[in-house]
Amino acid sequence: MVDTTVELCGLKLDNPVIPASGTFGFGYEFAELYDINILGSFSFKGTTKEPRFGNPTPRIAECTRGLINSVGLQNPGIDKVISEELPKLKKCFDKKVIANISGFSVDEYVYCCKKIDAEEQVGIIEVNISCPNVHNGGMSFGTDTKSAYEVTKAVKAVTTKPVFVKLSPNVTDIAAIAAACEEGGADGISLINTLLGMRIDLKTKRPVIANKMGGFSGEAIFPVALRMVYQVYEAVKIPVIGMGGVLTADDVIEMMLAGASAVQVGAANLINPYACRDIINNLPQVMKKYNISRLTDIIGMAH
Ligand code: SIN
Repeated sequence: MVDTTVELCGLKLDNPVIPASGTFGFGYEFAELYDINILGSFSFKGTTKEPRFGNPTPRIAECTRGLINSVGLQNPGIDKVISEELPKLKKCFDKKVIANISGFSVDEYVYCCKKIDAEEQVGIIEVNISCPNVHNGGMSFGTDTKSAYEVTKAVKAVTTKPVFVKLSPNVTDIAAIAAACEEGGADGISLINTLLGMRIDLKTKRPVIANKMGGFSGEAIFPVALRMVYQVYEAVKIPVIGMGGVLTADDVIEMMLAGASAVQVGAANLINPYACRDIINNLPQVMKKYNISRLTDIIGMAH
């Protein structure tokens, strides 16, 4: 018997596998396919104060071993998430969920985090300061140490639950941003969000995506994500959730060796809706293959 359990700031997870925000809706959509209670947890769709329709289409461009999205934080708004989405989720998910919160100002982050903090279904708040698809918000908070510190500090002042700050890879010094969040009181760091990218249609000679650029994710970004998780693990003392191009149980183990206490799976869910289920099922045999009896033993072992 191998031990797949992990812990994030006192929250015990049966395994480290967590569908990433924006790739798993509000969970109940996937409950039609399999019992989502097998998941460690999951991070729900990035939520803002007001409902958002998102960016104009096309919003997706396919790439070799990945895809670019420019969804633009489409979501029903914090009030509907609380009054409609969470009750639907409660019917099919017994575990604590990770609430992914986005915003366009510090006040908006504070407003939404304070509201979601009061929900008993929420175990962790993931503050997304890394969305590359909106102007005057999202990523602009995550590419500057001062802003990252300020958002974190402001959110921490109004919340009681663990706060993980989700970072953008579109920076020169990811360790400095992570350290600023830790200084602001973050309980953990999630990384990486998507890499800013674009495609041009050879027939029309125009950008494929209406918003021109978007966030690149999928298998191709795994080595970049792994490198950043490795760097952040050395820069902070708080736990790290690693993500970016994770496709297999082997990738989960590699991320944990780099320093991740848990691992999110994103684009893989869009290719195969059973991706997380398959990774969870394969994890014990991959652990045995590499003589790992307890997953928590390998966190950061590559250092
Ligand atoms: C989006 O909704 O545009 C993606 C969310 C994100 O990258 O944070």
